[in-house]
Amino acid sequence: MKTLHLLEHPLAEHIVTHLRDRTTKPATFRTLAYQLTLLLAIDATRDLPTEAKAVDTPLEPTVGRVLAHQPLILIPILRAGLGMVQPFVDLFPEISVGSIGLERDHATAEARVYYSKLPPMRGRRAIVVDPMLATGGSAIQALSLVRAQGATPVKLVCIVAAPEGAAAVQRAHPDVAIHIATLDRALDDRKYIRPGLGDFGDRLYGT
Ligand code: PRP
Ligand code: URA
Repeated sequence: MKTLHLLEHPLAEHIVTHLRDRTTKPATFRTLAYQLTLLLAIDATRDLPTEAKAVDTPLEPTVGRVLAHQPLILIPILRAGLGMVQPFVDLFPEISVGSIGLERDHATAEARVYYSKLPPMRGRRAIVVDPMLATGGSAIQALSLVRAQGATPVKLVCIVAAPEGAAAVQRAHPDVAIHIATLDRALDDRKYIRPGLGDFGDRLYGT
């Protein structure tokens, strides 16, 4: 099964290039992250179930389709994942938002869970969001927590992925679809994505 989905759209390429640019300031960075996540959210939800609904147009009755009443749960990985919440909330006002706090140790690049608050998820559709998929350690831990609560199906939406991280998630969670805006070259010695865009959280919040 093909689980890695690359967003192929000229606007996505345009936005990624401006996100990479070191001269892009936090306010613009946040706007670009919002716009790109909107595109990713649309792509990652194209399999949402719909149901028939009869409506009257001003001219005649017709039957259209609307989203089925099925709960959708969004789980941002704190802190950088917070920059991807608003586009989902704007598109899907009924969405429930949980959170998982994970932080990479600067020396080892290993992620540690420091916070977790999740709504009931058994049998519910969940989308984990984190802009950066580097070693994959953070995403793998978050997906394990979410799947242990019984969420299904579960997807992962990221902005930048390293090949190493994408492969690691595919190995650990072979049935999780991964949606990304760009697949970069590789990780460097410090486990940063190259060319990447630096530390997403720092650039988002100006820290
Ligand atoms: C970043 C990023 C991911 C993680 C990716 O978070 O937002 O969560 O690194 O790296 P990995 O794939 O190697 O686990 P960071 O730990 O810098 O925390 P922050 O979001 O609080 O800045
Ligand atoms: N986290 C980031 O924010 N950037 C990277 O390149 C790797 C992890």
